[in-house]
Amino acid sequence: MTTNRITLSEQFFRDQASASASGGLSTVLNRFSLIARMLASEIMRAGFVGKLGYTGSTNVQDEHVRALDVISNETVIQVFENVPMVAGIASEEMDDMHLLPGGEGGKYIVTVDPLDGSGNVDVAGQMGTIFGVYRRKTSGGALQPEDFLQPARDLVAAGYVLYGPCTMLVYTAGGPVNGFTLDRSIGTFFLTHPNLRIPEGEGNYSVNEANESKWPEATRAMVRAFRQQETQCGKRSARYAGALVGDFHRTLLKGGIYMYPGEAKKPEGKLRLLYENGPLAFVCEKAGGAASNGKQRILDLVPTKLHERTPLYLGSRGDVEEAVRRLG
Ligand code: F6P
Ligand code: MN
Repeated sequence: MTTNRITLSEQFFRDQASASASGGLSTVLNRFSLIARMLASEIMRAGFVGKLGYTGSTNVQDEHVRALDVISNETVIQVFENVPMVAGIASEEMDDMHLLPGGEGGKYIVTVDPLDGSGNVDVAGQMGTIFGVYRRKTSGGALQPEDFLQPARDLVAAGYVLYGPCTMLVYTAGGPVNGFTLDRSIGTFFLTHPNLRIPEGEGNYSVNEANESKWPEATRAMVRAFRQQETQCGKRSARYAGALVGDFHRTLLKGGIYMYPGEAKKPEGKLRLLYENGPLAFVCEKAGGAASNGKQRILDLVPTKLHERTPLYLGSRGDVEEAVRRLG
């Protein structure tokens, strides 16, 4: 691995200075670095300490909850308690927004998917954490829905952690997208992927094709065009990790498109705007890519509820534009 030995905390500090954010953005981002290190360690040890299974309950999304989902969510909340600049959290794993003790006067709020791709837990597959940081709209007192129901174009910072053969943290504070790799031996992230730009004209397409029978005809025809090499984008191989962070990370580095389409009976699709689609769309656009729900830019969508879902087409600009064109 080549590295110029810039650490993540140094970069957070630089971003804070260049965003002229007067206080605390680097502290907020540093907390995500701590979460990344804590969860990387939990995930690595889960098999040894009996934490691979289900808890027996379901979450607000009606999904079966795994022990690691609960641990991840609790870790995120604990790490943000008594961080004075963060007022509250909305998490994919919690029904409602959560006011943080000690953060009542905080000017930021965070959104998080604590453990994305947790279906990969027991097969040693990729998983991730997705995060967004917004300015709080109201000041003081109880959190209000409008504090969270903001379009992703207003994100102050967004990124993800990828837990795979190595642990990576990739984020942008509105400027370049930078990727850092964890040196486990000393517990420090180093800059390994400066100024990431998503390639054009090469890469893969990534979609769960087992859902084909549930898609509207235009979606089937569009995906078929990618599969049969009939798009103007060039040759595309199929890749699907089943963990959005893993699939997006590959798309960001190699190019192409990630898709989670809407279905005839479920037009909103599966993935969540606040916790998944918005933050990754922000990263993707800052790296030169595009993100759409098939009709509108993801960054322009204003959520109407915390757990809102939208279809997702995310990746190289040419691929996303062609997919949207073919969807009509
Ligand atoms: O968080 C939702 C998620 O687990 C994503 O990480 C992943 O991309 C997707 O669901 C996989 O869904 P499916 O199994 O329907 O392809
Ligand atoms: Mn997820």
